[in-house]
Amino acid sequence: MNGPTDRNADERELAEFEARIARGEKIEPGDWMPEEYRQQLIRMISQHAHSEIVGMLPEGAWITRAPNLRRKMVLLAKVQDEAGHGEYLYHAAETLGPTREEMLDDLLDGRAKYSNIFNYPTLTWADIGIIGYFVDGAAILNQTMLARCSSYGPYARANVRICAEESFHMKQGKEMVIRMATGTAEQKRLVQDAVNRWWWPTLMMFGPHDQHSPNTPQLVRWGIKTRTNDELRQTFVNNLVPELHALDLEIPDPDLHYEEESGNWIIGEIDWDEFWAVIHGDGPCNEERLAARRRAHEEGRWVREAMAAYAERKKEPERA
Ligand code: 3HC
Repeated sequence: MNGPTDRNADERELAEFEARIARGEKIEPGDWMPEEYRQQLIRMISQHAHSEIVGMLPEGAWITRAPNLRRKMVLLAKVQDEAGHGEYLYHAAETLGPTREEMLDDLLDGRAKYSNIFNYPTLTWADIGIIGYFVDGAAILNQTMLARCSSYGPYARANVRICAEESFHMKQGKEMVIRMATGTAEQKRLVQDAVNRWWWPTLMMFGPHDQHSPNTPQLVRWGIKTRTNDELRQTFVNNLVPELHALDLEIPDPDLHYEEESGNWIIGEIDWDEFWAVIHGDGPCNEERLAARRRAHEEGRWVREAMAAYAERKKEPERA
């Protein structure tokens, strides 16, 4: 049991920790931190890493079907970038204690969450444009905040690199959507159909409304997040709606309207039943996504074993 002296020491450390965050200092691995701060970061960074890795699947499915060599090269590079993002993020999470194997087990055993958005199918080539434009656009907004403000040094720095690459992803998606929206009637139809299917799931990426977001207060208190789920979602909608109108693309929300006094585009209600079902494993592609990750993990086992054996062999002369 903690005595009064221990409690005083804990309170002093917490006050100093919070003062560092208030001064805008980064918390680094090995620094004192409250256990809840560590746990929140492990949860958030590992979910983010899993999202990058699972996120390779819906787009990866179109690499062999890209309409020309240039598009194929761009898509290959983009999917490869997502793998790199997963790498940076698993490393950042490892600085807080868990091993990569433990995090991957959580994903493969279905215990870990990853972004809702990757549990929807990519039905046409237009979906690849919309993923870049909407999904990477939403991710950038969220991760620019994390890069600038997140109080944990390794996570903030990983996000700086990730955002630089994501901004290319977003631009290539936007360019595809502009081309298709201003192209043939069939291209326009395909891109409108993709907007219809991806609009709502993309808005769900920002998480539940603030009043239903149990983690936000603690994340904001400790400078991990500096803007709430609803604030970021509103900024995203305000940026995107005029752009879609300019392209003469319809937004699948009959309640969408502009509010003069706030200057905001107000959306209708999100289908939260769908959101909770998807993030708890019951979306259109959850089973398929996890099955693909499990298969990849098994098929890559020999590579991991060969690398471990090679590393052991390299140590041998030192031992001799
Ligand atoms: N998908 C899946 N689960 C989600 C979710 C989403 N879009 N939004 C919220 N949730 C989950 C939370 O993880 C939490 O569950 P848990 O407590 O069991 O972990 C629960 O719903 C309640 O949500 P909260 O609002 O309380 O959770 P947070 O305050 O953590 O906010 C978040 C959710 C905005 C996603 C935040 O965690 C975050 O900013 N994470 C870092 C960024 C990230 O993970 N992005 C993934 C996007 S995809 C991507 O980057 C790939 C790129 O290639 C596009």
